[in-house]
Order: sequence, then C-alpha cells, then structure tokens
Amino acid sequence: MAITTCIFDAYGTLFDVSAAARLAAEEPGGEKLARHWPQLAADWRMKQLQYSWLRAITGHHTDFWTVTQDGLDWALEAQGLDSDDALRQRLLALYWQLQAYPEVPAMLAALKETGLNTAILSNGSPDMLSGAVQSAALSEVLDDVLSVESVGIFKPAPQVYDMVLQRFGVAKEHVLFVSSNGWDAGAAAAYGFVTAWVNRAGEPVDRLPGRPDHILSDLSAIPDLARG
Ligand code: LAC
Repeated sequence: MAITTCIFDAYGTLFDVSAAARLAAEEPGGEKLARHWPQLAADWRMKQLQYSWLRAITGHHTDFWTVTQDGLDWALEAQGLDSDDALRQRLLALYWQLQAYPEVPAMLAALKETGLNTAILSNGSPDMLSGAVQSAALSEVLDDVLSVESVGIFKPAPQVYDMVLQRFGVAKEHVLFVSSNGWDAGAAAAYGFVTAWVNRAGEPVDRLPGRPDHILSDLSAIPDLARG
C-alpha cells in the first residue's frame, strides 16, 4: 500500500529533548548539573509524559507547556535543585530551542522532493512547536504542524490520530507514522497507521496492543521506507 503522508512525533523524535539539560550543564554556571543532568533529563521527560497520560484518562486536560513545567519541577526537587529559580528558567528557555537530530533536515527534504505530505503531530502546544520548528529551521520541509490542542486531549487518544485523516484526507494505511516513543508507535499501529519506531536507545518493544511495523535506530531510512 503506497505511503502518501509521513507524520512525525516531535519531542524525542525530531527534537532532542535531553539537549536542554545537557546544554545547561555545559554553560558557565552549569557545573552543579554536571553530575545530575542525565537523571534530571530522564525524570523530566518521564514525569512530563506520565502527567500527560494521567490528565488524559482523568479528563483534566491542560496544555503541554504546563505539564512540561510540572515535570521539571518534580525532577528538580528529586535532585535537590528546586530552590534554583535561575536554573529552572534557563532549562525552560532551552526547551523552546531544542536541537533537531542531525539527520532531520535532509530526511524531511528528501520526503518533500518525493512529493509526500509531511507534518508533525504532537502533544506540544502550538506556540512551543512553532518555536522548535523555527529554531531548527524546518518550516520549509513541513506541510503542517498539528497540535493536540485542536482536540483537547493528549496522545495516545485516538482523536489525536484522527487529526491526520482530517487534515490530509487520506486513509490510515497510506500514512507512515514515525515516533521515538514506543507507546506512541504502538498506539498508532493499533489505530491502523503504518508505523516506524525510532529506537535510538535500543529499548525493548512496549507490551501494548499494537506493535510497530518497522524499528529503526535513527531517521535516515525514512525516505526509503516511505517510497516502499
Ligand atoms: C510529542 C511527545 C509525545 O511530541 O513526544 O507528542
């Protein structure tokens, strides 16, 4: 079945979410993070995601910027760094300018050259996503940036994946959905998309109803996969 549309998760897939804590540790004044940043980055990400899932199942939606700040506050306190407001502000500022993984610009350009639709589908709020896309200079190689704020619930609620069909007028089986989050790739597979899980860390497959069709170590094979 020919793929016409490639859809990407944003945080962790196109943008390196650990970059904020890593860069803050390298800056002057960031010495206190030297030992803490890997755990801080991991806790920040895990709490951010847990809060998104818990808010989705309890019907307490708020935007992703709020859960990003709530996750950071938990992670800072866990490392005994919660009294450092300047550090908190710096980490949050860096989150708006996350680096894209190195292969991302050429990979998206190759998809556009082939004439495929390309878009982000993310939990991120529209302004966060716009900041990240601009900072990584990706606007020219994306047809759209779809935020869950249009439906008011986080992934993996199926209403979020429905947004792709509505925006591009395509059938599920013509969509290649790409995510570095095993749970997102699994849910998108159960929904009916063709899926690629970008498993940079070599993690086990999530035990969920859907299994990804493809498992990759980075994004460079996506254009070949999409062309079939
Ligand atoms: C996103 C998160 C889940 O971009 O990575 O939707």
